[in-house]
Parts: sequence; structure tokens; C-alpha cells
Amino acid sequence: MRKVIYPGSFDPVTLGHLDIITRASGLFDEVIALVSSNPMKQPSFTAQERAAMLVKCTAHLPNVKVDSHLGLLADYVRSAGAVGIVKGLRAMSDFEYEFQMALTNKKLVPEAETLFLTTTAENMYLNSSLVKQVAAFDGDISAFVPPELLADIRLRLQGKFRNQISADT
Ligand code: PNS
Repeated sequence: MRKVIYPGSFDPVTLGHLDIITRASGLFDEVIALVSSNPMKQPSFTAQERAAMLVKCTAHLPNVKVDSHLGLLADYVRSAGAVGIVKGLRAMSDFEYEFQMALTNKKLVPEAETLFLTTTAENMYLNSSLVKQVAAFDGDISAFVPPELLADIRLRLQGKFRNQISADT
């Protein structure tokens, strides 16, 4: 059985993430969408909330599982017996960082390959940080996130910056 891991911060899950998960699920026997820790980022959603979002929007994909992991991705990949790590690649800006991570993971877990799926043209610009900004200023995020997550994400983020600004002044 060919199992792959699709790791990310998923803070929050976007249509870009769902597109990669859907396409990977058509290529491999099992895809684990893994909520992972990125030490460079301070997440707005807890790991549990991010995993719950993934479960909700992938419920129609029988070979997709969701998990979360606080440690090194390479350790998870090895213990899961996965053949690869799937990553979505947007524009040139993603490339250097993704390349560094792919080479580092190859040293740490040589038996697994990093496989890049290019994002679709319509998701090329999309990232979680922009979605958070739009939601926090009460903008319309319906074009950016799976419809079943819309209400939860809005509820959690709306007015966030406005509240922060008024708390600071
Ligand atoms: O969605 P992101 O934030 O771009 O995903 C980055 C992520 C979470 C996949 C990366 O930071 C990661 O793999 N974190 C787990 C810790 C780890 O293994 N770090 C070394 C990566 S070479």
C-alpha cells in the first residue's frame, strides 16, 4: 500500500490545501493530512481545531486520514511507513524554502521522497495568512476556503484585528 503524508500548518485550511489533498488521494492508496508544527509560525487555530477542519472537508474522500504531530515530520513519516511527503508548490516564492525542506527530509528519512504537486492556476495566489487577514477584517472569504468551514473560520477570526487594535489603545 502506497501511503503519503501531506503536512502543513493548515491555519486555516484553504481550497488550495483541499485541492492538493484531493489530487493526492487519486494518486495514492492513502493520504494522511498531517497538522504539523511550524516553529516559524504562531497559529490562530489550535491543532485540534485544524485537524477538525481537515476531517470536515475531507469526509467525502475515503482514503484520506487526518492526524496531528508535534515533532519532526521525518520521524512521523518513518513510523507511518509512508513512501512520500506531498507538498503543494505555488509560485517561485515557495520554491527555495520547499527545496530546503525536501533535501533536509531526504537526509533524515532517505526512504521517503518529497513529491510536489503544482497548485492550480486559480489557487496560485492563495495562502492561509491572507485568508486570516481578510476574515479578521470581516471580508468575504467564501472564494478561499471550503464551504463547510466558512462559518467556523468566520466566527473564530472576525473582528480579530479590530479587537486587538481597540485593546492596544
Ligand atoms: O504549511 P506550512 O507552515 O508551510 O508547513 C510547514 C511544515 C509544518 C510542513 C514544516 O514546518 C514541518 O515539516 N514541520 C514539522 C517539524 C519539522 O520536521 N521541521 C523540519 C522540516 S525540514
